[in-house]
Amino acid sequence: MLKFSFFLAFGLLSLFASAQDCPILPTPAVYQPTNGQFVCSGNLLIDPSEITPNLKAAFTDYALWANNIQVSPFVQNPMVQFKKLTNVKQDSYSINIADRITISYSSEASCFYAWVSLLQLSTQQDGQLSFPKCFVKDYPEFQWRGLHLDVSRHFFTVNEVKRFIDLMAYYKFNTLHWHLTDDQGWRIEIKKYPLLTQVGAWRDSTVENHYTTQPRTYNKTRYGGFYTQEEVKDIVNYAGARFINVVPEIEMPGHARAALAAYPQYSCTGQVQGVEGLWGIFDDIFCAKEESILFLQDVLKEVLPLFPSAYIHVGGDEAPKTRWKECPNCQAVIKANGLHDEHELQSYFIGRMDAFLTQNGKKLIGWDEILEGGLSPNATVMSWRGYEGGKAAAAQGHYVVMCPGSHCYFDHYQGRGAEEPLAIGGFTSLEKVLSFDPIPPDMTTADAAYVLGAQGNLWTEYIPNMAQLEYMTYPRTIALSTALWSETKPTYEDFFAKLTTYHFPFLSAKNVNFSKSCLKPEIKTTRALGWGILIEKLPAKGIIAYATVLADIKAAKRKTKTVQIIVDQGPNLPSKEMDVIAHKALGAQIVFQTPPSPKYDNGSLTIVDGQLAARPWKGHEWLGFESDSVSFDLVFEKPIKVKEIRIHTLHDPNSWIWAAQTYMITLNKYGCGNGIADGYSTDEFIQIEVKDKHVKQIHVTLYGISKIPSGEPGAGNTPWLFLDEIEIR
Ligand code: ACM
Ligand code: ZN
Repeated sequence: MLKFSFFLAFGLLSLFASAQDCPILPTPAVYQPTNGQFVCSGNLLIDPSEITPNLKAAFTDYALWANNIQVSPFVQNPMVQFKKLTNVKQDSYSINIADRITISYSSEASCFYAWVSLLQLSTQQDGQLSFPKCFVKDYPEFQWRGLHLDVSRHFFTVNEVKRFIDLMAYYKFNTLHWHLTDDQGWRIEIKKYPLLTQVGAWRDSTVENHYTTQPRTYNKTRYGGFYTQEEVKDIVNYAGARFINVVPEIEMPGHARAALAAYPQYSCTGQVQGVEGLWGIFDDIFCAKEESILFLQDVLKEVLPLFPSAYIHVGGDEAPKTRWKECPNCQAVIKANGLHDEHELQSYFIGRMDAFLTQNGKKLIGWDEILEGGLSPNATVMSWRGYEGGKAAAAQGHYVVMCPGSHCYFDHYQGRGAEEPLAIGGFTSLEKVLSFDPIPPDMTTADAAYVLGAQGNLWTEYIPNMAQLEYMTYPRTIALSTALWSETKPTYEDFFAKLTTYHFPFLSAKNVNFSKSCLKPEIKTTRALGWGILIEKLPAKGIIAYATVLADIKAAKRKTKTVQIIVDQGPNLPSKEMDVIAHKALGAQIVFQTPPSPKYDNGSLTIVDGQLAARPWKGHEWLGFESDSVSFDLVFEKPIKVKEIRIHTLHDPNSWIWAAQTYMITLNKYGCGNGIADGYSTDEFIQIEVKDKHVKQIHVTLYGISKIPSGEPGAGNTPWLFLDEIEIR
């Protein structure tokens, strides 16, 4: 057993932020501290004469909620004065704190943003409220700063949604994309179609564990809930008072199983099926016949008056064309409208909704699949499968909201530890979110003007309750708000210091179950002297402990193939046991002929670090290749004896990841190649027996399938090939 440790407690981290730092997140454009504090005892007295009654009410409620500050109007001698400016940058504001606090603002929303910044500047001690004397000038970089909340997979009550909104407002988000319908539950009352909620809001079972875990088991408890129209109005008003616009999403033509459980006549087959209890993509979608289109327009007629939002989201993602291909009604629509295929039929379907919404003074927004078969004239595109959809839409002169899975999917894991609660997969760290730019580097300035902004998406398959919702949302959402608001981006180190010094205490005070994964030391394998060593690293603080374990592994592996290491993580965390497979390629140099995709390039040591990736998969434990074949060489310091090669790949068709099918291996001795093995495998795990000495290099090529077969998620696309440990024994 090996042991190494470090001696810096993470509690010390917060010392890195200094008193001169600006506590406000997202970082304001300008912060100039002057000397001293503005101190008051008792209530914060504001002059309401230059603000609307709405703002006055919002300020009072919000200050009490956020920082327990009592606000009272006092015109004669106020502590806070307001000044409305014209001809200034949209949503800009400034705060001057001297012998009195002056807030200048351009719009009602910007006055609220100023107020939030002021609250973030406040500290309270012994009944006294203090603000640092300073000057702040600020404005947002992007106008769409959103969070998406899926209330279908798991339902959140009115009060829970309000709490979600309150927290969003503290970080200057202005858009809540409310995902109200999906296969697993319809969540909004529609009076003309009562079965949508009587039937569609309730499912009889819910899959347990990760949906790829076999055999599947189900929790048979009936589960569901919905919002009455009165409750919807209440939430929309509540959000509006905090300058958050609520964009409803009514999914079509896919993700429709809950609606079709209630009204099967609007599917292609008419077959009666229950509300779905499994996660994934389902073949039964709305039929493209006229009756279904009119039904959905009827639904929208009731939805529109509830939402002042200019944008209405109609989904459009993940709609398999299986049923449409075989449906006489759908085929008749294709024929009657001179369409070429089912993609054009989807485009026709979305086009009908676009026309309807436009007629009703609204704008359609949909997931990037609405580009397939031709983009409807007034559509705005929400780009989730990377930046590509957004780039294509902007190039055609359409507005875009970016939310690429790589940076904006907060249902992904955020920490590397095995103790992270179950998530859908993928790895999106706090640091990665902070590095997000809604404008990809290869976008022209002209096209970039169409990017409204971005949002974080909270899909809730693996988020069953509010505590878990907060865990997945915070602190990543604060990094996102910084990426979207602040024109000058802070470094991760600065952001991290501010976050831990000022905002973790705020979140704790509000009892937010935020994730502390970013505080945990990272245990990483690095290469030194041609072999593997392990180091520990704290985020933003560089290497704080460093230990060579190779010599011990070498000694230990004569007796055992797996070596256990106990890592002392410091006084505030339990020690951690790690099993390292002590194989001969540990720490070997890898030379890629096929480069890993930047999306899943976690460094070549990922596949020779002695660690097997966990399942369900996390994005950081694999190398991902966007290619149907992958070639690389393992290069050894000294010639080695090889008896067995073990290759670990991943098979997760739901994530478009397919295991390698065939392989070719060449052993290279004394500079000449020697083909030793090729074969076929359908397993994630390939095991090859060989017997050779003096091997300096091993060349590996893996071949996957070139196209995802029909009927599978992502059919027709090239699948991903994911690679983990290459063990040489
Ligand atoms: C999506 O994540 N299916 C938009
Ligand atoms: Zn049909």
